[in-house]
Amino acid sequence: MKKSILGILVLALALLGCTEKKDTAVKAMKGDVAAGKALAEKTCRTCHGADGGGVAPAIPHLAAQRERYLLASLNEYKNGKRTHAALRDIATQMSEADMRNVAAYFAGLPAAPSAAAKDVKHTSPYEKGKALAAECAKCHGEDGNAKTPGTPTLAGQQPHYLIAAILEYHRDDRKLTTMKSIMRDSDRLDLESLALYFAAQTPVQRAAPARGDPAAGEPLSAMCGGCHGARGVSIDAATPNLAGQDAQYLAKATKSYRTTRQNWGMQRYVAGLNDKDIDNIVAFYASQQPKAGDQIPSSIQEIAAKCNRCHDQEDSPSMAAPKMRGQDKDYLVMALRGYRDGKRESTTMHNMSFPYSNAIIEGLASWYASQPAK
Ligand code: HEC
Ligand code: HEC
Ligand code: HEC
Ligand code: HEC
Repeated sequence: MKKSILGILVLALALLGCTEKKDTAVKAMKGDVAAGKALAEKTCRTCHGADGGGVAPAIPHLAAQRERYLLASLNEYKNGKRTHAALRDIATQMSEADMRNVAAYFAGLPAAPSAAAKDVKHTSPYEKGKALAAECAKCHGEDGNAKTPGTPTLAGQQPHYLIAAILEYHRDDRKLTTMKSIMRDSDRLDLESLALYFAAQTPVQRAAPARGDPAAGEPLSAMCGGCHGARGVSIDAATPNLAGQDAQYLAKATKSYRTTRQNWGMQRYVAGLNDKDIDNIVAFYASQQPKAGDQIPSSIQEIAAKCNRCHDQEDSPSMAAPKMRGQDKDYLVMALRGYRDGKRESTTMHNMSFPYSNAIIEGLASWYASQPAK
């Protein structure tokens, strides 16, 4: 493998070295498709295929991709804004005209009939989470609305918080034998799928608190509201909603930050409260109307609709967002993780992919990869 890449690079170097001089004279604005084809066949074919389809997983299809996007990508590899060692070497050896030519060539090819796309099974994290949730139904309710005092409602809870909470039982940071034995074998994608499913359910108000005075609790809750929201619905995916939660569970959980549960923020605020204060605050939050956090998409298609505003426009040459239907699935996964984790630069895309867990990224990538390319 190493050898063949090296071979390609040497070839590319030799080839590009001699085309450069001619091209500076051409200075055409529009790419020369025939010249692009010659270059592609010599330099790109081993990886991007004769028909512009990636020859192995994680190599993107270039056929029928937007010309402007292809050109921009090559420039980004060249100037280092996008990092990939092999492409940087290749792009560095290309002149502006080479890039325009090869971009025009690939953009003009018909969408590559992707053999892989037929094998891609679209996995929906939501459906997966729903199936896994059957194990939790006995105690937390089928839709995450628990009825037993002491067992928290999961419906409408903030998704990142749910993941963190489940992991705590996993690691045994939060002791509860039943919860631990259930969590032991689940992998990370499963956990995220479960969290997504429960977060998307509609929470139902629990039984009225048996103890405490909501009116006395309200002013005390002021110091909690900055994080948990004035009425117990937080706007931060990592901070749990408290509104309408089971009172017995809330009281136990709040008190546990004075002893066993570790969280710097919470410990500071709870340390100075006595049991009566806590009962009053809990009574206040438990009697608030529960509400699911915003923007919990329940299906991949719902998310994809947002992506399509930029990615699925009828062809306008000015559109900078690449086409994704029929693209290689592994490549899409890598690209999205790259944006999310700050390894690939793009303010727009970073903002889009940041909230997305690996489970959603997997679902989105498999959805786009399984769609026929246009
Ligand atoms: C050694 C294999 C290899 C060769 C040869 C190669 N590429 Fe690539 N190409 C890749 C891989 C792998 C990626 C994905 C890199 C990444 O994650 O950024 C890629 C990505 C690209 C992209 C970005 C596509 C997108 O959807 O963002 C463009 C454009 C591209 N290559 C053009 C070319 C051109 C033009 C040539 C020939 C001059 C070429 N490549 C030669 C492997 C190769
Ligand atoms: C045998 C009953 C039982 C089963 C089955 C069960 N749980 Fe629990 N769960 C509990 C109880 C009780 C608590 C409260 C524990 C405590 O007080 O710390 C809890 C707490 C939790 C919490 C913490 C909630 C919060 O607000 O911090 C999460 C998250 C959770 N369970 C997820 C799950 C998931 C996911 C499943 C299924 C895979 C599941 N549980 C199965 C009884 C159960
Ligand atoms: C600085 C921000 C902040 C403040 C202020 C704050 N909390 Fe929290 N709270 C958090 C975070 C973050 C978590 C999740 C911590 C964890 O994972 O253990 C949390 C967790 C909780 C939980 C556990 C919920 C569950 O489902 O298990 C309860 C109950 C709670 N807070 C009550 C309170 C109360 C009552 C106050 C005011 C006295 C308060 N919090 C003040 C940030 C805050
Ligand atoms: C506001 C417009 C906009 C929205 C909305 C948007 N994108 Fe993008 N996307 C872009 C642009 C522009 C690029 C090219 C960025 C670059 O050059 O790295 C891009 C690049 C990408 C790439 C890299 C593709 C490749 O061939 O390398 C992927 C994957 C992607 N977006 C997925 C998504 C998904 C999934 C969503 C929805 C969750 C989404 N995008 C929403 C504008 C958008």
